[in-house]
Amino acid sequence: MIDFTQLTSNSVAPKIGMPPGLSAETKYIFSVTYTDPEAMQLKDFADAMDTVIAREGLSLGPYPPALGHEGLRSFIADDLEKNRGIKISSENIFLSSGASGVTQTLVAAFINPGDVILMDEYCYHGSLNTFIRNGANPVHIQMDDEGIIPDALENAIQQNIEQGVKPKFIHTISVYHNPTGITLSLDRRYQIIDISKRYGIPIIENESYADFRIDGPELPPSMMALADHEGVIYLSAFTKLLGCGLRVGFGVFPESARVPLENIFFGTGPSHLASMAIFEYLSKQKQEYVDGVAISLKMKRDAMIRALSEFFPPSCSWTEPNGGMMIWVELPKNANTWDVLDAAVERGVKYNPGSIFRADRSASNKLRLTYSQNTTTEIEEGIAILADVFENEGLFD
Ligand SMILES: Cc1ncc(COP(=O)(O)O)c(C=O)c1O
Repeated sequence: MIDFTQLTSNSVAPKIGMPPGLSAETKYIFSVTYTDPEAMQLKDFADAMDTVIAREGLSLGPYPPALGHEGLRSFIADDLEKNRGIKISSENIFLSSGASGVTQTLVAAFINPGDVILMDEYCYHGSLNTFIRNGANPVHIQMDDEGIIPDALENAIQQNIEQGVKPKFIHTISVYHNPTGITLSLDRRYQIIDISKRYGIPIIENESYADFRIDGPELPPSMMALADHEGVIYLSAFTKLLGCGLRVGFGVFPESARVPLENIFFGTGPSHLASMAIFEYLSKQKQEYVDGVAISLKMKRDAMIRALSEFFPPSCSWTEPNGGMMIWVELPKNANTWDVLDAAVERGVKYNPGSIFRADRSASNKLRLTYSQNTTTEIEEGIAILADVFENEGLFD
């Protein structure tokens, strides 16, 4: 018998500890930012798929271009100019397997073991784990309700420089941040760009939730649009909008990043068929579809906030986001949401313990609740159950 575990590559990092309950099957899924099933328009998407196969199915014979489907990249370039203020050629956009694929490509092109990445106080665990797995050293920077605090960012840079380390990137999820829902304010954007310029540290800007405004102020322009130092790499995806299973995301890069990215063939591109169908579908109805998603997510967000107000005691607090699909909840200081996840899963509810968003696994009295998957009635039922679990486990004391 051949034992493949004996053949494991030395470059594979040890498994990162995650609570086992996260992979359990439950009725109430408050732990993943799935595409909102109520907003999906499957008939229209099936029509788009039929149309592209009939019209240009033969183009699936050869391998697609290195950057990905030309039509979809041009659509993205126009959309970024209209909605995020970015003026960029489609030749500076590459398609990838979701936003995660872009992060993995950036890590492969730019990250060496030991590189310091300055990031939000809490960071989407998928990106965080990718950095950790590849030996990077994440340094979390304090945030407030306007996003990363510039003084804290500059202090961290100076401390690293004093120790002989120049941080490699500033990484931020700048709109409807995962997990807190916070949007980086315009003023902060300028301050962070200024820091990036002065210290020569580029920014990775993850705007995966830019299409998910529900209400509240319009989003400020992206940092890639505001910056004049060619020091921002931007990424986003169509996964949350149209289907996580479609696995299509994109990275946008300044010219000097072309060669390092070209050297690794821009990572592994997505399915060309999925790209073709997304192009066909969105170029006809993006705004209408985005508006439908916002209506559905508003009902779900409101249902979750209503349920939290009804079932959670005053010792707890939570955010009320204007977009995205998640609420960040803080319980009393001694609560441990990681340890109690299994008890919640037994009652059919999953959530993300706050600690998974920190490299040091702190923030154990916090949790992230997502509201995109379940119906409003299920959200109310699930939050009532979760409150009961937390109460029984003493987390509200
Ligand atoms: C900020 C952020 N980036 C990336 C991802 C990964 O998304 P994708 O499915 O597009 O790879 C997520 C998913 O939750 C996310 O919230």
